[in-house]
Amino acid sequence: MTSPIRRVLITGASSGIGAATAERLAQEGYRVALLARNAEKLERVRAGLAGTGHIVLSCDLCSAEAIQSAFHRLEQEFGGLDLLVNNAGMGYRARIEELDDGLLEQLFRTNVFALLHTTREAFPLLKRGQRPVVINVSSVVGRRGIPGQVAYSASKAAVCSIGEGLRVEWARDGIAVCTLDPALTATGFFEAQHNPSGLPGPDLEAASGPDQVAQEIWQLDQKPRPERYLRWKWRVLSVIAVVAPRLSDKLLVRNLGDGWGVPRY
Ligand SMILES: NC(=O)c1ccc[n+]([C@@H]2O[C@H](COP(=O)([O-])OP(=O)(O)OC[C@H]3O[C@@H](n4cnc5c(N)ncnc54)[C@H](OP(=O)(O)O)[C@@H]3O)[C@@H](O)[C@H]2O)c1
Repeated sequence: MTSPIRRVLITGASSGIGAATAERLAQEGYRVALLARNAEKLERVRAGLAGTGHIVLSCDLCSAEAIQSAFHRLEQEFGGLDLLVNNAGMGYRARIEELDDGLLEQLFRTNVFALLHTTREAFPLLKRGQRPVVINVSSVVGRRGIPGQVAYSASKAAVCSIGEGLRVEWARDGIAVCTLDPALTATGFFEAQHNPSGLPGPDLEAASGPDQVAQEIWQLDQKPRPERYLRWKWRVLSVIAVVAPRLSDKLLVRNLGDGWGVPRY
């Protein structure tokens, strides 16, 4: 007996991890709804996908009304949803004293509020889905705050927290909720991020490719797990951060370089 086609909504599907995930899941026979702001880019991604029946939802996730109309269309086209990948996000590399109010608001709207709004709208569709799964793309820095990106780290910590609470909240609804914590991944994320005083960016040489993250997303949908780190060293660091914060600071500074100091208390 052939299994039914899985219907997936991927936010942030116009580039990077989201586009790679769309390609990976389409190869596996999923029917994909691609959501982001840039309709042209989304159409290009859709044109390259294997299979048929994929749709483009051009939507600014900072608007709760725009999310509602995207879901209206999704419901008409797909009827229900088997997998939601909350992947859209933005970075912000800045010291705290240079944070801009407008950008700070955009960061939390995109990385946190949009994820809450999208997940809320997805609930009735997921309830009608087959073996429904939600995958929230956080980051390793959501589990261990880092200097120069405290606002971004905090937004990703919120994503981890949402996953912890929601997976219990939805347990009796039969909806699995997974948190994925990618480490450095070679996408356009770093070029797109605001960096007002030019803080040094990462060396992408040792970065994962977006296709590796996409593979993890596919595996998580096949076999849901509460949380998956893509680099075990960051997992160790986040555990140490709770039980031995001084040691965690030392290890972090050694790892980051970039002239950050170790606290002396
Ligand atoms: N790259 C890394 O090293 C890394 C590491 C850990 C976690 N992550 C996380 O992985 C996720 C994907 O990032 P990426 O590396 O693939 O970066 P990316 O290529 O810049 O992708 C970001 C995606 O989010 C979409 N997006 C941003 N704001 C949006 C909005 N207001 N409404 C709708 N869509 C919006 C963008 O599309 P439009 O511009 O077309 O709207 C784009 O498709 C993010 O959540 C990021 O925080 C990345």
